[in-house]
Amino acid sequence: MTADRPLVMDGAAHDAASLPVEIRFDKVSKHFRRPDGEGTFVAVEDVNLDIHQGELVALLGKAGCGKSTLFNMIAGLQAPSSGAVHVQQHDPFKEFAALRGRIAIVFQNDRLLPWRSALDNAAFGLEMMDVPLARRHEAARHWLARLGLQGHENDYPHALSGGMRQRVAIARAFATDAPIMLCDEPLSALDEITAARLRLEFAELLREAGRTAAFITHSIGEALDIGTRVVVLQRPARIAYDVRLGATPAEAERTEVRRRIMDVLTM
Ligand SMILES: Nc1ncnc2c1ncn2[C@@H]1O[C@H](COP(=O)(O)OP(=O)(O)O)[C@@H](O)[C@H]1O
Ligand SMILES: [Mg+2]
Repeated sequence: MTADRPLVMDGAAHDAASLPVEIRFDKVSKHFRRPDGEGTFVAVEDVNLDIHQGELVALLGKAGCGKSTLFNMIAGLQAPSSGAVHVQQHDPFKEFAALRGRIAIVFQNDRLLPWRSALDNAAFGLEMMDVPLARRHEAARHWLARLGLQGHENDYPHALSGGMRQRVAIARAFATDAPIMLCDEPLSALDEITAARLRLEFAELLREAGRTAAFITHSIGEALDIGTRVVVLQRPARIAYDVRLGATPAEAERTEVRRRIMDVLTM
């Protein structure tokens, strides 16, 4: 299903910058009016960021530092106050329709439809894209199996654990075959052990499928397990540290990067 896209091979993280830019922030700021009407509040300040094809970029920062605001601007749900956001050369806010089927989203909450089986939930994104029933069920079955849910196709969300429900939500995102995966803290509602297991599987699937991902998280461990690149944000969202990791970073490299991230986050 991904034959039309080059797979990202081991070691590609180092060459990522030579691949096409999929998501671009060009001098992006976002201000909100204060609730009391007194002036504005800066949520994102002058962000420049290029995310290249096949990069799995963890956007890491503390609560309230503007991560979801960045997410909303990539997804086309909010427009920047100044500067420009481009996804595959389109303005996601002004050209929302042009990006249909190109961005798949996983939220913190699974957002499954309770009256639909796991199969019909996983097929939902394709249904929105008018893909015929047989094809969307085939893709949904494939991705449910890849996420370890074979045999649960006919289960309804209430019969599944939180971890399994989030697996269905991830299957739904992969099934669309969208080249860009956008995730806003997709594992942070799960217990620690479930989240740690799922994040390794998720990272593997993203790599294998050659997707480009912007993955928002407040967990350093998650950022290092999933990201081929970690971008650390300081409030108001501005980039304080940006590092690309080797495809299979040695323990020493991880430890050093973790130390730098801790330094930045405690500043
Ligand atoms: N629609 C909005 N109106 C006013 N302030 C907002 C709005 N959305 C976010 N903010 C503020 O912008 C800051 C960043 O929010 P957000 O992007 O949700 O942070 P994060 O996802 O990193 O926790 C917060 O202080 C939040 O209160
Ligand atoms: Mg958020």
